[in-house]
Amino acid sequence: MSDLKSALSQAAAAAFAALGLDPALGRVTLSDRPDLADFQCNGALAAARAAKRNPREIAAEVAAHLADSDLVSAVEIAGPGFINLKASASALSDRANVLADDPRTGAPRRAAPRKVMVDYGGPNVAKEMHVGHLRASIIGESVKRLHRFLGDETLGDAHFGDWGFQMGLLITACADAHPDIAAALERLNALAAPPEADLEAARALFAARVRLEDLDRLYPEAASRAKTDTDYRDRARRETAALQAGAAGDRLIWRHFADLTRTALERDFSALGIVFDLWRGESDVNDLISPMVEALKAKGLAVEDQGALIVRVARNDDKRDLPPLIVVSSEGSAMYGTTDLATVLDRRQRFDPDLVIYVVDQRQSDHFEQVFRAAELAGYAPRGSLVHVGFGTMNGADGKPFKTREGGVLKLRDLIDMGLGKARERLIEAGLGAELDPEAFEATALKVATAAIKFADLANFRGTSYVFDLDRFSSFEGKTGPYLLYQAVRIKSLLRRAAEEGVSPGPIAVAAPAERELVILLDDFPTALDEAYAKSAPNAVADHAYRLAQSFARFYAACPVLSAPPQERASRLALAGLTLRQLEIALDLLGLEAPERM
Ligand code: ARG
Repeated sequence: MSDLKSALSQAAAAAFAALGLDPALGRVTLSDRPDLADFQCNGALAAARAAKRNPREIAAEVAAHLADSDLVSAVEIAGPGFINLKASASALSDRANVLADDPRTGAPRRAAPRKVMVDYGGPNVAKEMHVGHLRASIIGESVKRLHRFLGDETLGDAHFGDWGFQMGLLITACADAHPDIAAALERLNALAAPPEADLEAARALFAARVRLEDLDRLYPEAASRAKTDTDYRDRARRETAALQAGAAGDRLIWRHFADLTRTALERDFSALGIVFDLWRGESDVNDLISPMVEALKAKGLAVEDQGALIVRVARNDDKRDLPPLIVVSSEGSAMYGTTDLATVLDRRQRFDPDLVIYVVDQRQSDHFEQVFRAAELAGYAPRGSLVHVGFGTMNGADGKPFKTREGGVLKLRDLIDMGLGKARERLIEAGLGAELDPEAFEATALKVATAAIKFADLANFRGTSYVFDLDRFSSFEGKTGPYLLYQAVRIKSLLRRAAEEGVSPGPIAVAAPAERELVILLDDFPTALDEAYAKSAPNAVADHAYRLAQSFARFYAACPVLSAPPQERASRLALAGLTLRQLEIALDLLGLEAPERM
């Protein structure tokens, strides 16, 4: 049985058809005025225009047909010809019981699953994470979970930025800071295949001298020095070239940088419920680049231009100029776009995705347009199989991309700590978690902090920028992550109490208005999922979860559960259990988790 909205649409379509009118006009939606009706159908207006008839008259004829349906208990004509429908208690109850028996609470699975790759997060070695990476990680994780839940074969890849000029800069900076590192690099780089003992000794040296804090400090210093000091920049360039050509010492210290960064990132990401299936690096496609460049040249796609090798991607009907994709710079190096193009090839060879979704800051939209067009021209990926899902920025109170009070970029670890601090404060202030032991309290605080940060990011359409306001995000009231967790925890504690009292859920019989409202919303989950899936817009799921939590709160206030007579009690308990299940599915799709208690 499909959701009520679809079943009613079918009934209305049959009514329109029986009257010789276009069945497509029978589309039924949730009512805009839930105080007046549950569902509505506005098709009579368009039908009247097409048939040059009076819309109220058509509405009345359609209504007469619909009145016979078991699904509806009342049909009314409103205004110029809107048809307002009230679902019958039996239809709502039947539907609620179907949802309660379904582990997916009515969520559909895609009829034709696809192979989907989500490229998200995009953190870099040594270069600090900034708010763009944070949003990419939060939104991308949700988009990935959504695809997986709806049945696509899905892989999420961090597309680790571990290659390029920043690596040469770091090697140069480390060699300058530590003469013993400089000496080790020189010795190893001169050898084609250094003995294992030498490699081992160098590894130990790098580990002792270069820690994560050192990278955090050295990289920004080196990057700013390279802006003015051309000798330094040239050395860093040569080091980059040596690394990419395979110099043993450079490769070894580079591995150390990448491992250090990745370990720290994985720890922080996983605290936030962000887990990548793959950590393929930009470096992993290094060997594909030169054959790819040769092939592009042979096809006549890559052409010489002012010493560089470019692929022209502009089209006549472009509204604005799209610069060519630079495949090899005039200095002979592969570029960001080159790596992305080679990655398209690499993914095709390894996974052969039907769709690759790049969840990256919308300021990179030109870059992706260039890469996608080049990939299409080269025959690597058809148009439409590569999609850029952009997003706006997370801003500070000043309306500019968020910076810490010291003016620096926000580190993931610091964000988590800030969120944790605020979550503890809020829990204590709300009198929550008092009976938890310290360890459970900390785990709960982390869930609350994660919910606060992620939900705020996912609550609005991704294209919209928003202002970072941890105070508001962490509140247990309003449209916030902690509010959702709080409602989920209330249901969990209700279910626990019921179990303690030996009360079991039973068949759902929908009667009270708050029960009707809750069931209609539960039944509408597929609408939210469809929208979120089609637009890579987790905010549709966030909205649904919020409305569900609110609707549950109204139900719980209006309908006593454990103190109700046995049949009603069993029904309401089942309804609460169903609500919790759907709420937890929605939370999981957003990358959130409700604690057992708080
Ligand atoms: N590492 C890049 C950056 O920091 C983001 C990578 C996004 N993904 C991609 N396939 N280009 O800007």
